Amino acid sequence: MDRSRTKVTVPKIVASKDEGRPLVMLTAYDATFARLADSADVDILLVGDSLGMVVQGHNDTLPVTLDEMIYHTRCVSRVTQHAQVILDLPFMSYQESPSQAVAAAGRAIKEGRAHGVKLEGGVSMAESIERIVAAGIPVMGHVGLMPQSVHAIGGFKVQGRDDAARARIMEDARAVERAGAFCLVLEGIPSSLAAEITAAVRIPTIGIGAGVACDGQVLVMHDLLGLDDGFKPRFVKRYAELAAPIRSAFQAYADDVRARAFPTEAQSFGASPLASKKPRAPREADGASDGYGPSDGDDGA
Ligand code: KIV
Repeated sequence: MDRSRTKVTVPKIVASKDEGRPLVMLTAYDATFARLADSADVDILLVGDSLGMVVQGHNDTLPVTLDEMIYHTRCVSRVTQHAQVILDLPFMSYQESPSQAVAAAGRAIKEGRAHGVKLEGGVSMAESIERIVAAGIPVMGHVGLMPQSVHAIGGFKVQGRDDAARARIMEDARAVERAGAFCLVLEGIPSSLAAEITAAVRIPTIGIGAGVACDGQVLVMHDLLGLDDGFKPRFVKRYAELAAPIRSAFQAYADDVRARAFPTEAQSFGASPLASKKPRAPREADGASDGYGPSDGDDGA
């Protein structure tokens, strides 16, 4: 992996469309996975309100609060060196008024240390997008299947299957572009419609369940990693099947504890002083080494 690559910026994301360079976006909710995704050359880390489902265990994204989004975004932005970090504004943190939207986006930047925000909605959100952009905050739009409208649309269903709905989504996409968004998520729409929108707007489109013609793709990290073996929607490609090996590791640990096979001498401490410790790795350098740091060597018994 190339650690010398430079920071992904909004102008670079916008330019990627003309350069024909597909954008890679992935959700992230914590420092450990953000570090991994950032070092894997992902362009954009979206702290998605999908965390309501994959982290908090809800059936939809609606209960997530702005404070929770800010907390998770801080965890991600603190360790991200290259990717753009985008905070997904949660339900009812921006729908009331453009002023509310600007205030929420401001908190995303100041407190979450995000580089920009995403919000759902097209024509109806154009004024809010304009106001946020005018405040100097990059906005990523999101049209098509909008999970925060799950009750209005009657479930997580593909949108834009008839002509009227296609026209509405196209109009939403154009409104988001006109309002000044720097890129646009297209979720849960037919590939043909995503291709039309991608050709019609000058900002990059990032698809999820929207086919291959989009200018980039996004997946929820937990789906890509196969962390929920009961969840296999058609639009997800699993690049790993981690649920089973993780469960096996937990089971092996439980078996060891019950059999008193863990810890062994190798994982135990003697009574000798701590002075002989080698220096800690930079990440743990803020406190005295006591053999608990992940890169500390044998404590000696
Ligand atoms: O919340 C989320 O993770 C999202 C992506 C699926 C686009 O909005």
